[in-house]
Amino acid sequence: MKALILSGGKGTRLRPITYTGAKQLVPVANKPVLWYGIEAIVRAGITDLGLIISPETGEEVKTKTGDGSQFGAKITYILQEHPLGLAHAVQVAQPFLGNDPFLMYLGDNLIEEDLGKFVDQFTQQNLDALVLLRQVPDPRAFGVAKLDPAGNLLGVVEKPEIPPSNLALVGIFFFTAVVHEAIAKINPSQRGELEITDAIQTLINQQYTVQARELQGWWLDTGGKDDLLEANRIILDSYLTTHIEGQLDDQSRIMGRVQIGKGTTLIHCTVRGPAIIGQNCHLENCFVGPHSSIGNNVTLIDTDIDHSMILEGAQITNIHQRIIDSVIGQRAQLTITPRRPKALRFLIGDDCRVELTP
Ligand code: DAU
Repeated sequence: MKALILSGGKGTRLRPITYTGAKQLVPVANKPVLWYGIEAIVRAGITDLGLIISPETGEEVKTKTGDGSQFGAKITYILQEHPLGLAHAVQVAQPFLGNDPFLMYLGDNLIEEDLGKFVDQFTQQNLDALVLLRQVPDPRAFGVAKLDPAGNLLGVVEKPEIPPSNLALVGIFFFTAVVHEAIAKINPSQRGELEITDAIQTLINQQYTVQARELQGWWLDTGGKDDLLEANRIILDSYLTTHIEGQLDDQSRIMGRVQIGKGTTLIHCTVRGPAIIGQNCHLENCFVGPHSSIGNNVTLIDTDIDHSMILEGAQITNIHQRIIDSVIGQRAQLTITPRRPKALRFLIGDDCRVELTP
């Protein structure tokens, strides 16, 4: 069995963070979100992976992720020239997939449950397709499943205004090679994409065995800022273990589960876990609160951080206030200076959001 991981697309919902990189490389607990997916797939016993990349961010994904050896896998990179839809990505990957059954995994998704049991169910029950579902309060932003009272899958519909259920399609699908014929039959949707939901509906209409399984554990789609912070919170809560490699002076205090990377120094700081601080950071007179991730090479002075993500190389100094629920991009600088006139001075990139409380 092979796996096809989608790491192309545009990442518009995570702008400005995704202006300078792929959305699948945005770190969750200091690790690219894509890597959690790769690790989960390898844990399920699949090691022949195709990775869909885009012309804009493909090189970065390739350079960071490599040939797969760091994950115990073999990665083949497949360029999708334009983001023309999930089913289009499968079409582009056809030479890699051949006639093999495959797991299709959207690179910005994370689930709690092991994929292994779904791989077993798909292969042992000779299914043509298997889709994973999760109950969500408002499914309108997702593909949505229609089930009969016995739980059989009757249909799937992409981003419906009036959803037929509250079961969203998680971005994880299993297919046999019959999906290629189904994709050949579908047309682009109103948003101009070849939708994987239309291909699944075609398989259902043609009486192929298409089943659905509902996830009970968490599902995270790291599409927007709040989703990203939530993913960061859950990953820190679920997996972080204490590991301190940096230096702390005797006035610094660590509480709960905390990781501090090599070359990082903390002077007169309090860190309350779960929290992760990367390598070569300098923190002075700071409080780092639960569910915070601080990337490598970050400087933080006289600033308190809570439930926030500070990406690589950012510098935050003299704020003397608590920063909460925030994502601060790579190399961003944030400071309060004594300069006159006393005023706010900004150099803010496109699509940024700044909230100041008087
Ligand atoms: O997150 C789950 C949802 O993912 C499902 O409920 C929907 O049925 C499914 O269509 C998809 O919807 P999104 O609109 O959220 O997909 P998005 O455009 O965000 O793309 C998902 C991933 O696939 C993302 O990592 C980018 C990548 N991608 C996307 C497109 C359109 C590609 O690699 N190539 C593409 O052409």
